[in-house]
Formats: sequence, structure tokens, C-alpha cells
Amino acid sequence: MRRIMEEKQNIGGLFDRIAKTYDGLNHGLSLNIDRLWRRKTVAKMQSSEHVLDVAIGTADLTIEMLRQGKAVRVTGLDLSKEMMAIGERKVEQLKRKGTLDKNSEVSFLYGNAQQMPFADETFGAVTCAFGCRNFSDLDAGLKEMFRVLRPGGQVTILEFSYPKNPVIRALYDFYFTHLLPFIGRLVSRDKTAYTYLNRSVKGFVWGEAFVQHLKDAGFIQEHFEPLTFGIATIYTARKV
Ligand SMILES: C[S@@+](CC[C@H](N)C(=O)[O-])C[C@H]1O[C@@H](n2cnc3c(N)ncnc32)[C@H](O)[C@@H]1O
Repeated sequence: MRRIMEEKQNIGGLFDRIAKTYDGLNHGLSLNIDRLWRRKTVAKMQSSEHVLDVAIGTADLTIEMLRQGKAVRVTGLDLSKEMMAIGERKVEQLKRKGTLDKNSEVSFLYGNAQQMPFADETFGAVTCAFGCRNFSDLDAGLKEMFRVLRPGGQVTILEFSYPKNPVIRALYDFYFTHLLPFIGRLVSRDKTAYTYLNRSVKGFVWGEAFVQHLKDAGFIQEHFEPLTFGIATIYTARKV
């Protein structure tokens, strides 16, 4: 418990270390299912001129929302400069190729989701993919999302959860306990980052329990949808 809290206190450094291999490992280890999850998440989100993507990382969720025309302007917040540098390069490349509209605007800002550098009611929609379980204080992060969202706005969260089916659960446990740390260590050459990912997924709240945290932060729950046997879940909630 103490170890994971210490890791969460230094989360930016951890993701800085694995930034270069993050995208490849994500897509490879999930057999590209993570792309499908982000597509589904964005399909569920409310369109808004200005969206905040909390824990933007290498910008995969942001890129998907620009592709689906759900946002014109996105502000991304993250504690890893290396992850954001890769995200920034990807956005620029896609704009040059014409895959993303040249007028779409993405700004990358270094900062903590638990203490956001934004005024109240700045954004029409807030998103967060695979970020929440890394917060050292989940409730502080959710309350900040609520504060910076305009009334009527929606928060959309994608996060790992835990499958109910015992067979899938056994495969999931094997994957996160053995395969992910092994391949992650081999490819990223980082000894601890992928064992942290395993611990952060296992100890995290999901389903109804996560919804309760959203409600405690002030949100009205709209919808939650388990994906791929419950390995991940999309949550949407609104500020009224
Ligand atoms: C697993 S990555 C997810 C990145 C991206 N959203 C995606 O879908 O691939 C988690 C990201 O959350 C960021 N992060 C973790 N805790 C944070 C916090 N308290 N404030 C801001 N960013 C944070 C990390 O630096 C990392 O880039």
C-alpha cells in the first residue's frame, strides 16, 4: 500500500521513463483493443468546442475525439512531459498528413489533475482515459473535474475494471501479473513501471463503487458500460 502511494506521488517520472515505448506496448499487448475502447469512449462523449483531456499522455484519446469531430479545441493536462512531447508530435504529424483538421487546436499543459490550473467552469466536456487509477487521491481528481466543468457538461472516463467471468478473470490475472510486467520490462527496459501498472489496476475501484466516487464529487451518473468482458469500463456523468 505504501509502495503504490509512493509510486503515485512520482507518477510523472514513471511515465517519463516509459513514454517512448508506451504506445507500441499499449497497442501490441492489447492486440489493438485499446484503440477500439477509445473509439467507443469518444462515441459516448458529448461534443464540445473546448474539451479538457485529463492525463492526456500521448494524446490517443484527444486524436480520436478530433477525428470523430467531438471537439475543436482540446486542452490536455499531464504530469509527464515526455508523454506529452510524443503526443504533440503525433498531433502535428497527423495535421500535416491531413488526417486531422489543420484548424483543430491542442494545447499540452504540465499540471496535476488533483489541483488543476484552471478557473471554475472553463470546459464544456472533460475526459480521462486510463488516468484516474494513477491519482494519489481519486476524489480530489474527480472534484477538480467537476469544478472546471460548465453546468450541463459531461465527464467521460475510460478505466480498467475487473471481469466477472471466472475464466476471463483467471486469464486477466495471469496477463496483468505475469505477461504484462515481463514484456513491459523487456521492451521498456524499466524494472518497475510495469509491475506498478499491474498493482495500480488490481487495487482500483470499478463499476458501482467507481460510480459512487463520481456521485460524491457532485456528478449525476448517466451511464456505465463494461467493455470486452469487463476488462475496461466507460463511465459518463453530468454536472447539472
Ligand atoms: C496510462 S497513461 C494514459 C494516457 C492517455 N490518456 C491514454 O489514453 O493513453 C496515464 C497518464 O496519466 C498521467 N497522470 C497520472 N496521474 C496524473 C495526475 N495526477 N495529473 C495529471 N496527469 C496524471 C500520467 O503521467 C500518464 O501520462
